[in-house]
Order: sequence, then structure tokens, then C-alpha cells
Amino acid sequence: MLHQRFISNRWNRLLSKASCNLIPTDNKRPIRSYVIRSGRLTDSQRKALENHWMDHVIEYEAELIDINTVFPEIRKLTIEIGFGMGDSLLAMAVENPNSNYIGIEVHKPGVGKLLQGITERKLNNLKIICHDAKEVLLNCFEARTIDKLQIYFPDPWPKKRHNKRRIVQPDFIELLEGRLKQNGLIHLATDWQAYAEHMLEVMESAEGLQNYCGDSNYWLQPDRPGTKFERRGQLLGHGVWDLLFEKR
Ligand SMILES: C[S@@+](CC[C@H](N)C(=O)[O-])C[C@H]1O[C@@H](n2cnc3c(N)ncnc32)[C@H](O)[C@@H]1O
Repeated sequence: MLHQRFISNRWNRLLSKASCNLIPTDNKRPIRSYVIRSGRLTDSQRKALENHWMDHVIEYEAELIDINTVFPEIRKLTIEIGFGMGDSLLAMAVENPNSNYIGIEVHKPGVGKLLQGITERKLNNLKIICHDAKEVLLNCFEARTIDKLQIYFPDPWPKKRHNKRRIVQPDFIELLEGRLKQNGLIHLATDWQAYAEHMLEVMESAEGLQNYCGDSNYWLQPDRPGTKFERRGQLLGHGVWDLLFEKR
């Protein structure tokens, strides 16, 4: 058992080598893809955080999560990065009781809102990690253990000098690809055309991934519920671009 853990940790470290610039080891501060907003908690979000954190939140530690102890049954695992207020992730978990879901988010009001939903719906197939997704994916998951990764409407960081804060970058996608099982999927969506083009370029350059919809194509009829940021973008007249890539 210990031997197995040693081998898998070693394998994990090897796979993570290419991703080492995600978490710099020198004194430079890591580039964060988010700013912690001081959004006020509603009473119900605060209550959910106080009363249900222990039931549905996996505390972040820089070590592997034993997924078999997290869910009552082993099922396909989907991870959503940056679920915001969590409405679309909640809808997916309700509609697909035979899949397991983990949502990763740093925004506490969103975590409170999703905790409320999980509790009201009595879901046992959806858990939350409240921490930087880059560190979570790097430290908590072994290679080839995730069936699907999804990032919907990530912060677009539209100013040129902020572009480096976009979460979809070659090193992060390489890390995600390593964590996916064979034929696992990455589903991305954005309402910023420039970010969509950047995503397509990064994803198509990633060795080990192929565009499920054919070279240079976006996914025109994605099978996902709408999200809060998507609706906000649509009110502003933005388009929507979805991308689906498969691990070869
Ligand atoms: C623009 S919002 C979109 C939220 C949601 N997906 C939607 O479509 O409504 C992006 C979210 O990603 C979260 N986020 C950004 N970088 C993150 C990271 N490295 N780890 C966890 N969450 C992150 C932010 O806190 C924010 O809530």
C-alpha cells in the first residue's frame, strides 16, 4: 500500500514537472487567475457555510485526495473549475445522479450558494473544494483519474497586460490533460471572441488532445445548462463559444 502510494506520488511529481511554473519555487508571487472579490454574503449563504461546510467541502491540503472515501459510490468523475454561483453545476449533478462531481471555486458567496443547493437537494454526488484550482489539480489528483474537466466563462482578462492571468494557458492545459483518463474530455466555454480564439490555439497545440468537433471547429450545440455569466454576456450582446477536446 505504502509502496503504491510512493510510486503514484513519484509519477505525479514527474507528470507535474512540466507544470512547475504554475507554482513558482522562487520568491516571485504566482500569477493568479482571480481576484478575491469582497462580495457580501447573504444570510442564507453564511448559514450554509457555517452549517454545511463539513458535510460537502473537501478541505484543501497539498496532498492526494482519496476519491473512494469522498463519494459513496465510484462513478464517472467530472470536475468544474470556477463554478461561480454554481447554478449550472448543481443542475448537472441533479440531472446525472450516476456521475460524481467536484466543483472548485475561491469565491465564498458562490460556495455558500452551492452548499445551500446541495443541502436542499440532498445530493451525495457533488462536493466542493474552496481553493485555487491550479494548486488543487497539481497536488490533489493523480494522473489519469478524471473523466471530464469543465471551465465555463472563465474571467476573460481582456486587457493585453492582463492576458497572462487567463486560466487557459499551455502549462495549465498540459496539467489538466495529464489528470484526464484516456478519452477523457475538456469542455471550455467563453463569451469573449478573443479568448475563444486563444483557447482554440492553446488546445489545438496541446499534444495529447484532439478537437472533438474537428480541427479549428467550435462546439455548436453544447450539452450544458446555461450559467450566470453566460446570461450576463448575452444581455450585453456577446456571442458564446464552446470547445470540446478529447484526450487521445
Ligand atoms: C467569470 S466567473 C464565471 C463563473 C461561472 N462559471 C459562470 O459561468 O457563471 C469565473 C469564476 O472563476 C473563479 N476562478 C478563477 N480562477 C480560479 C482558480 N484558479 N481557482 C478557482 N476558481 C477560480 C472566480 O472566482 C470566478 O467565480
